[in-house]
Amino acid sequence: MTDATALPQPLCLTITGPLKGDITVPGDKSISHRALMLGALAVGETRVSGLLEGEDVLATAAAMRAMGADIERRAPGEWAIHGVGVGGLLQPMTALDMGNSGTSTRLLMGLVASHPITATFVGDASLSGRPMGRVITPLGLMGATITATPGPGGRLSLPLTLTGLCPAIALRYTLPVASAQVKSAVLLAGLNTPGDTTVIEPIPTRDHSERMLAGFGARLRVETAPEGRIITISGEAELRPQAIVVPGDPSSAAFPMVAALIVPGSDIIIRNVGINPTRAGLIAVLQAMGGQIDLINRREVGGEPVADLHVRHSSLSGIEVPPEGAASMIDEYPILFVAAACASGRTSMRGIEELRVKESDRIAVMAQGLAACGIACTELEDGLIIEGRGGDPAPGGATIAARLDHRIAMSFAVLGLTARAPVTIDDARPIRTSFPSFVPMMTGLGATVDQ
Ligand code: S3P
Repeated sequence: MTDATALPQPLCLTITGPLKGDITVPGDKSISHRALMLGALAVGETRVSGLLEGEDVLATAAAMRAMGADIERRAPGEWAIHGVGVGGLLQPMTALDMGNSGTSTRLLMGLVASHPITATFVGDASLSGRPMGRVITPLGLMGATITATPGPGGRLSLPLTLTGLCPAIALRYTLPVASAQVKSAVLLAGLNTPGDTTVIEPIPTRDHSERMLAGFGARLRVETAPEGRIITISGEAELRPQAIVVPGDPSSAAFPMVAALIVPGSDIIIRNVGINPTRAGLIAVLQAMGGQIDLINRREVGGEPVADLHVRHSSLSGIEVPPEGAASMIDEYPILFVAAACASGRTSMRGIEELRVKESDRIAVMAQGLAACGIACTELEDGLIIEGRGGDPAPGGATIAARLDHRIAMSFAVLGLTARAPVTIDDARPIRTSFPSFVPMMTGLGATVDQ
């Protein structure tokens, strides 16, 4: 977790030639969280390889240990979990520190909601401003009692205390926002709830929870209907321990991918990247902009589709990005904004108001940073319009406030590779939440850390 007492660590990346290399990126963050949580509920030994050892996932591991699971790191990325069984979570003795991690918080709230225990969730300044009402509402309907802290604009946030109800009340719930975290919180609460719990999602979101729950042996049905995807879990499930291989995170691969597209002469391969259709929207958008990204060696790893990506420098052109694809690339917009800034012509991105409640308000923070680097853009309530510079490098020469947001930090570090004057990130420590090896990976591709 970002240590508030330690000093900020500025970061500035530069490059004099092309990016070249053959790399892998760390394990998928969403899948890593879910592997730890479901492993902690299965009786017997679950083994995970390729687990992301970023701070967000480590917060989930610490919380599951605090609630009784035995979790051991056997080698880098190799973890073993002995679970407590569905219904077996224990009362944590201290508050659960979620650090910067919205996924840990919302999914764990779901787990606690149907256990007879009380848990207090605390987090850093970024997480303590993020909306929790979206999970409080359905979990309250299932019988949980929740006391939260009013945050910015009166939204309910952390610190938050949740007392579960056991047995909880089965629910049929239509998601009011396209959110895999809310969907997963309700499904995880449904695991220990008698009867069938159903989530209807009008817009499909990442389906890692559904895939992994089915893999662990939960009884789960997914139907497609005019009102959306209808996902039903039968409660009081028994989960069977699994051997899980976590594919590379497409949200992390997005940074070297865009870097290679925008730095002249670059040619890289990124191996073992998850290309689950509920996550891979960015690849299709960059290809539509003219990005040369070839998917090779398509295969399946741990129940998820993966491929190696061959990425070459390309002349990108601005497009209107289809809003209906937003959920499949929601975390990739900050780095897409960077690609748009380097494209010729205008790129318009709408239907992305959810970006305002991520680790930072990603529309506002990116718009301010792009303007500070000399890139013309117009901020809209639900999106951003960027006037790309084509082959003309951005002036740069700015210091960007990352605001405890890892993806803001990495996006501007990549933009700086093509700017005339260096771009400095005021504090790169948040990168540890999702991509601890980002800087060594970039230097391995040819970038230099400016001291
Ligand atoms: C995640 C879902 C998304 C995403 C987050 C991870 C998940 O959040 O932004 O980084 O693992 O379920 P929302 O569900 O709030 O869109």
